Amino acid sequence: MVDPHRQRDVRAQAARRRTFAIISHPDAGKTTVTEKLLLYSGMIRTAGMVGSRKHAKTAASDWMAMEQERGISITTSAMQFQYKHTVINVLDTPGHEDFCEDTYRTLTAADSAIMVIDAAKGVEAQTRKLFEVCSLRNIPVLTLINKMDLPGRPPLDLTAEVEDVLRIQASPVNWPVGAGRDFAGVVDRATRQVSLFTKTAAGGALKSGRTDAPLDSPDVRKVISDEAWRDVTHDLELLTVAGNPCTREAFLNHKVTPVFFASALTNFGMENFFDAFVEMAPAAMPRTADCPDGTEIVVDPSERPFSAYVFKIQANMNPRHRDSTAFLRVCSGRFERDMVVKHHRLGADVRLSRPHRLIAKDRDTVDVAYPGDIVGVIDTGQFAIGDTVSLNDGFNYKPLPQFQPEVFARIHPTDVGKRKAFDKALAQMTAEGAMQRLWSLEAPDFIIAAVGRLQFDVLQFRLRHEYRVETRLEPLPYECSAWLTGDLNTFRAPGDALVVKDQRDRPVVLFRSSWSKQFTRERHPDHALLEMG
Ligand code: G4P
Repeated sequence: MVDPHRQRDVRAQAARRRTFAIISHPDAGKTTVTEKLLLYSGMIRTAGMVGSRKHAKTAASDWMAMEQERGISITTSAMQFQYKHTVINVLDTPGHEDFCEDTYRTLTAADSAIMVIDAAKGVEAQTRKLFEVCSLRNIPVLTLINKMDLPGRPPLDLTAEVEDVLRIQASPVNWPVGAGRDFAGVVDRATRQVSLFTKTAAGGALKSGRTDAPLDSPDVRKVISDEAWRDVTHDLELLTVAGNPCTREAFLNHKVTPVFFASALTNFGMENFFDAFVEMAPAAMPRTADCPDGTEIVVDPSERPFSAYVFKIQANMNPRHRDSTAFLRVCSGRFERDMVVKHHRLGADVRLSRPHRLIAKDRDTVDVAYPGDIVGVIDTGQFAIGDTVSLNDGFNYKPLPQFQPEVFARIHPTDVGKRKAFDKALAQMTAEGAMQRLWSLEAPDFIIAAVGRLQFDVLQFRLRHEYRVETRLEPLPYECSAWLTGDLNTFRAPGDALVVKDQRDRPVVLFRSSWSKQFTRERHPDHALLEMG
């Protein structure tokens, strides 16, 4: 029986949570948007410190140093802070396509997503891929068209492109007033209130000045150019006739994406966007889970005691703490520090020790957490990605699918004396899900497999810097793979393919080409070659 006071507390806290990821193509402005959310939340007093790549910063780990060197975002983490009355949990997703599996898993922990689009570039490749993942999981997406202070494409073109390329209805909530150097503010379509902005002497480092007035008021006419006025009134009229309505239900069901315009660099339009985001984005959502008898249940955040699942594991996040962190997404009930919970896969009780979360870049101990929150706990090897933990046993959150690996290699320590450290490192990194180990059917020999080549670079880099193990990598010529189901004895792999097994003992076939995979599939109608496992 759940204590009604406690349940009320959990319900109220869950309703305050907004757990989301920002998805975008590299350079569209994800880091800047995150930083401005911190600025408007009062977490930082001046912007320009969080993700700047031009200014050297203390890296949280050598691995992150590599990330900075390459100018791409590899690591994912979650940050928590308060924006006005809302508790924000922002999940960071890596922008690089070689890390799509990591991104996929991270997005399972999100209740919504913000899609940042560069106004000059429109919908780019990586945005499209990440958006597809949101579509697959029915995650509601808000669109922010960024960099309006630079010369960009006409706003109507951009919204049309969102609809054509992403196959979702776009419904502008606000519209830009002026563009490029003349970008003066945004007008709310429902109220026709304009927010006009002024730059501070510190540029975008501080909140920009803002005045709100009706679009037709003389004050607004005085400030904006005739051209900007003509454009905005023309576009608004067009949208009234031909624009898509946006109901909350359609947005929550991933049928419509509300669209906003802003310049994250100068802060113009950012507060309007953040205010609308916390208003529109869903709170901690219920999640489906499987019961041992094969039935499915929907776990309501406030009606069940504490439950969570592991969506990410990361070793050596901080060189001073040589341990792994398992990131839990709290799905129901109230988490308390050092609580002992049931670990469903192991069938054992485990203590969730040293719980922490990231606030900006600092680690903070967690005493309590609520649905939607992300909690990092110490993992001494007992956790795997997808594990469910809860106070009351009886269900498992849906397993997280694995992506098909597309690059394969053998890897050896150059110094055989480092074998033990090498084995430990590989075991830890496999648990993180950064790569898979595939085992030969006959010999105690293994192959490493990943979705993209960059993951091998990261692996070797981390082996060198975190474990002091130099390695030799021998790339293998396979280009794709599939999980095989059916009788192994009657399966004839092509001469240049290889059958191995994964960590869960499932047979996997490695092919030299997708053509070879398709050919094999056609020759073996009684077997299935599965794309995602
Ligand atoms: P990302 O995380 O999506 O990769 O993008 P990030 O925020 O790092 O932004 C990429 C570049 O675009 C940065 O410039 C950033 O300052 C700039 N930028 C972001 N939003 C806006 C905007 O609204 N207007 C303009 N004009 N620029 C914007 P950089 O020169 O690469 O790096 P930095 O040293 O300024 O950080």
